Amino acid sequence: MNALRRRTVADFEKAAGRHDDPAVYGGPPGDPGLVGPDSMSWRINSDIASVSAAGLPAIVLEILHPSVVAGVQDLSNYREDPFGRSRATLGYVLATTFGNTEAATTVIERVKRIHSFVNGARPDGVPYRALDPELIAWVHTCIPWMILRAYEATNRPLSQQEKDRYLFEQALIGRMGGADRVPETAAELDDYVESMRPKLSVNAQTREFLDFLLTSPFFPDLPDPIDRQLHRFAIYAGMSLAPRWAQELIGYDRPPLLTRALTGPVLRLDARRLRWAFGTPRYAQMAQERAAGAVREVAAS
Ligand code: HEM
Repeated sequence: MNALRRRTVADFEKAAGRHDDPAVYGGPPGDPGLVGPDSMSWRINSDIASVSAAGLPAIVLEILHPSVVAGVQDLSNYREDPFGRSRATLGYVLATTFGNTEAATTVIERVKRIHSFVNGARPDGVPYRALDPELIAWVHTCIPWMILRAYEATNRPLSQQEKDRYLFEQALIGRMGGADRVPETAAELDDYVESMRPKLSVNAQTREFLDFLLTSPFFPDLPDPIDRQLHRFAIYAGMSLAPRWAQELIGYDRPPLLTRALTGPVLRLDARRLRWAFGTPRYAQMAQERAAGAVREVAAS
């Protein structure tokens, strides 16, 4: 049993990274980090299954903004290293929530510095810059929004108050990343998403990104036809967490009947498998020990 757990964790970490750097998750004894041990953010983001399931729908929603996809197409290395890119984003989410205060602040500042070079013009001539507070707000919001939906779909329903607390805490991180106004409650989130919808679309750049996402090898160790089938299923399953209008926009709103029947159960089963294998993930354990005042002398092996 232990071997199977270890194998599950190792397979996950091979693609998604380890996220147990003592310099980030350890640190000054008693340091609560940006949101603290009693936060909903610690509770929800300790569920690695929900955080990882949120990755795909969050990125798809983000790039539905034509300025975001322009920046990504012009300057991102996602084609060369798609897993590296998603590792970096997962690392950002975990470090800002669980990292010690200095590490969390440093990672936010580092990513802001990278974003300061992400400037250009969309194919329709509209200039963009990644540090535009409106764009940062949109990209930021897609992450906690999808984590909440993944958590509710695969773990348990959350009360309005729990969702409000989570969004309020995550909004602090969004503002530190350069957003001006980000939704702080579930009601504000609904209004905000509605207000953004007219700005979202699928153009040639979006299609190019989606084609890459939907067709590049996903399970590279498997034979091509099986990889393709599983990949398609994984995309339908991931996108089932996004609202229906987003599935329609990208043309992933009509899964085959069997896929439709299976996505929910498979998502939940896969989440249970990850939860069982990880227990409390190391990043959360280390952060809890740090906040409780323990000094961690050796890195987790
Ligand atoms: C709060 C919002 C955002 C977050 C949390 C975020 C997160 C990240 C992270 C973690 C990296 C990787 C840094 C590294 O290499 O270690 C990155 C790089 C990058 N981001 Fe963002 N980002 C946000 C907004 C945006 C926006 C609005 C755009 C485009 C308009 C954008 C485009 C890029 C590009 C082009 C890179 C360069 C590296 C690459 O993807 O290969 N980001 N971002």
